Amino acid sequence: MSKEISVLFVCLGNICRSPLAEGVFRHVLDEEGLSDRFQVDSAGTGGWHVGESPDHRAMRSAATRGVTLSGHARQVQPEDFKRFDYILAMDQSNLSHLERFRDGVGGEAALYLLREFDPEGGPGAEVPDPYYGGPDGFEHVYDMVERSCRDLLDHILEENGSTS
Ligand code: 4NP
Repeated sequence: MSKEISVLFVCLGNICRSPLAEGVFRHVLDEEGLSDRFQVDSAGTGGWHVGESPDHRAMRSAATRGVTLSGHARQVQPEDFKRFDYILAMDQSNLSHLERFRDGVGGEAALYLLREFDPEGGPGAEVPDPYYGGPDGFEHVYDMVERSCRDLLDHILEENGSTS
């Protein structure tokens, strides 16, 4: 596998679910010694939180599993559909937004719901928005994101002619 592979995680605000997915995916890549083969980022369909750090509850649930979240919220840009090979939406609303956006701007990025790769998820499964709930919601989200990221990596490696 020689070509660098780029992966973008997208939610609504880019402060809870997608920074968590970005951090978990980076962590999995690190464990597998594959970090230098990938470009990983996250973004939000909305712009309300642009420039903010990840939500402290997301940071705490990641930190308890040894994962550090970094970066600041940004909004999805037209170039993202050309820059990224894979774009993973957290829920159906994010996915519909991205599909409409891509129809308008073009680009080759492959769009999926992240939980299509969750062994406990499947077609149509969503990562629920934990923003208005308590810390338990973030733990639940962490678990499904971690399961999904592991199988997502297997899928990408298979599609790109490599195994982990
Ligand atoms: P996220 O969570 O999409 O997982 O980052 C949310 C963050 C902020 C809001 C909604 C969801 N909000 O309404 O401000």
